[in-house]
Amino acid sequence: MRRAVCPGSFDPVTHGHLDIVARASALFDEVVVAVGVNKSKSRLFDADERLAMLERACAPFDNVRVDGFTGLLTTYCADNDVQAIVKGLRAVSDFDYELQMAQMNASLTGVETVFLPTSPTYSFVASSLVKEVATFGGDVSALVPDFVNAALLERLAARKAAGEA
Ligand code: PNS
Repeated sequence: MRRAVCPGSFDPVTHGHLDIVARASALFDEVVVAVGVNKSKSRLFDADERLAMLERACAPFDNVRVDGFTGLLTTYCADNDVQAIVKGLRAVSDFDYELQMAQMNASLTGVETVFLPTSPTYSFVASSLVKEVATFGGDVSALVPDFVNAALLERLAARKAAGEA
């Protein structure tokens, strides 16, 4: 059994993430979408919300499941018999940091990182930009699943009403 993780914050999940998950699911027997649930980081969606959105978005993939993790990704991989970390690379700008993390992770436990080039359709898509554009009224409906777009609009409206955005 070859098991891989697709790790990330997924705040929120985008079509770019799901493109990588779908392609990883074709390469490995099982893919775990591993959501970093570090409580010290401020997120638009809390860990349970991000997990629930991913569960729904990944439901079409038979060999994909969703899990949360805290602490080091390498510990999660060792504890869960994960052979590879799959990361999407959007551009050269992603590469420096991703290479550094891949090498650090390999040095810690020997776990391999597999880089997949992001589909050109989604190479500009990042959760942070999606949130920023949506915050200022831009239409991000083509970049995230419909139910994520609805949750995003609802959350941003609630924050605006509360004077937080
Ligand atoms: O979606 P993101 O924010 O780019 O995801 C980053 C994530 C969660 C994959 C990365 O920060 C991570 O692996 N965090 C777990 C802590 C860890 O292992 N840190 C050492 C990295 S070399």
